[in-house]
Amino acid sequence: NVLILDFGSQYTQLIARRVRELNIYCEIKPYNKLPENLDDFKAVILSGSPFSTLSEDAPHPDLSAIRGHKPMLAVCYGAQYIAHFSGGEVAPSNTREYGRARLSQIKEGRFFNGISSGSQVWMSHSDTIKKLPPEAELLASTEDVTNAAFKIESEKIYGIQFHPEVYHTQDGARLLENFLVNIAGLAQTWTPDAFVESTVAELKATVGSEKVILGLSGGVDSTVAAVLLHKAIGDHLHCIFVNNGLLRKNEFSEVLDQYSGMGLNVKGVDASERFLSALKGVEDPELKRKAIGRVFIEVFDEEAHKVTDAKWLGQGTIYPDRIESVSASGGPSATIKSHHNVGGLPDYMKLKIVEPLKMLFKDEVRRVGASLDIPGERLGRHPFPGPGLGIRILGEVTADKVAILQEVDHIFIQGLRDWGLYDKVWQAGAMLLPVQSVGVMGDERTYEKCVALRAVESTDGMTADWVNLPYEFLQKTSNEIINKVPGVNRVVYDISSKPPATIEWE
Ligand code: XMP
Repeated sequence: NVLILDFGSQYTQLIARRVRELNIYCEIKPYNKLPENLDDFKAVILSGSPFSTLSEDAPHPDLSAIRGHKPMLAVCYGAQYIAHFSGGEVAPSNTREYGRARLSQIKEGRFFNGISSGSQVWMSHSDTIKKLPPEAELLASTEDVTNAAFKIESEKIYGIQFHPEVYHTQDGARLLENFLVNIAGLAQTWTPDAFVESTVAELKATVGSEKVILGLSGGVDSTVAAVLLHKAIGDHLHCIFVNNGLLRKNEFSEVLDQYSGMGLNVKGVDASERFLSALKGVEDPELKRKAIGRVFIEVFDEEAHKVTDAKWLGQGTIYPDRIESVSASGGPSATIKSHHNVGGLPDYMKLKIVEPLKMLFKDEVRRVGASLDIPGERLGRHPFPGPGLGIRILGEVTADKVAILQEVDHIFIQGLRDWGLYDKVWQAGAMLLPVQSVGVMGDERTYEKCVALRAVESTDGMTADWVNLPYEFLQKTSNEIINKVPGVNRVVYDISSKPPATIEWE
């Protein structure tokens, strides 16, 4: 188990992912909240930070409980912090120290095992370590940065000015492995199979024979959470899958079939009419979202009450939703990002919460899902917003518009699959625009609806770029949509990136 102390670097989560990729478990904690169970952690990594260690309001935590007690890897700000408070000297750097650099004069065989001079590293800092602490030993330099790596042998501290966690640091994973395995002596046993085994045992112990209710969405997280819970407590798990009438074509029945094929105890509830009547006359996107959310909670609540004696609410919350991040001010107030599902249910339900995926990153959820034999089709599914087609029909939602958009979306998504493009795209879908335009079909002039197709590449949905789909594919898809979907006579392709646009149109 590795502790990553976060000083607010944009790369902190990346450090955690790299460590996990080495099959070593780690947790991120804000620098000012050392965990109470320090004994569980065999090594510590200090992250970078947007702050200068020279500044008054920079994070200056007391690390005496860790220093000298556990092997420590200090990255960037972390290394400067150690240097600054151990008798070294940190100062603003004269040269620009961003981007590519190459290691030279490498010393230490164990830390740099398998890494040779010339190996590319990535720098991103504005202060530099001018003078090492007296007891530190220089391990490597680069052309512009003399003190690029050092160690303090007596305390098993390794400091590096560059970022081993970023992709552009060529031997970054190797360096992390050298530190964690060769120096800190950690075992590489954190695998999806091991996670499944230990989580199932934990769930058995905490939930026992009490009943759990879980809302399934068809998405990756809730599905993997359900399968894990089912493995632990069998049919004491009661899943509810609500059809809000805004799902993709055939999604409700296909997903229900797939869930029953996985042996899950799922109740499908078709509440389409209720959602549609709540959406009647509503045009504002946020009001639509609120209406959909409200009806969802009503329906879920009614169904949950039919399960007598339920004690737990299962949720598919994942780690990025929960990581406490260091606030922008760097002050001691750490904030917790709230997950949109958490707290979404009425208080009077008084259910205890169980979140089996709460320590996993998205890619780990997929790997765990694969080790649970969940069909690849479900694990590779594009993200789909909770309000579904409700926010892809611009303006008021009606049953007719849903039916049109379902057909259009189906042709587009099926086409992506047939052309082998589905897995190259992060998210795709169609929008029904509140625009009519003139067309000609046969000898007749038409005045019908316009749809926009959107396909983006992204890693987390925070930023995204449109996908350069082949013209032949767009041509064929457009033809098929206009020929097969009555009411649509025009198809456009969205070529906007996020930012400044967003992925959805509402
Ligand atoms: P935007 O449009 O903000 O979308 O670029 C980013 C990601 O979030 C999804 N999204 C939602 N998901 N409820 C959800 O569960 C919502 O109200 C919602 N709005 C956007 C969107 O599909 C994309 O993946």
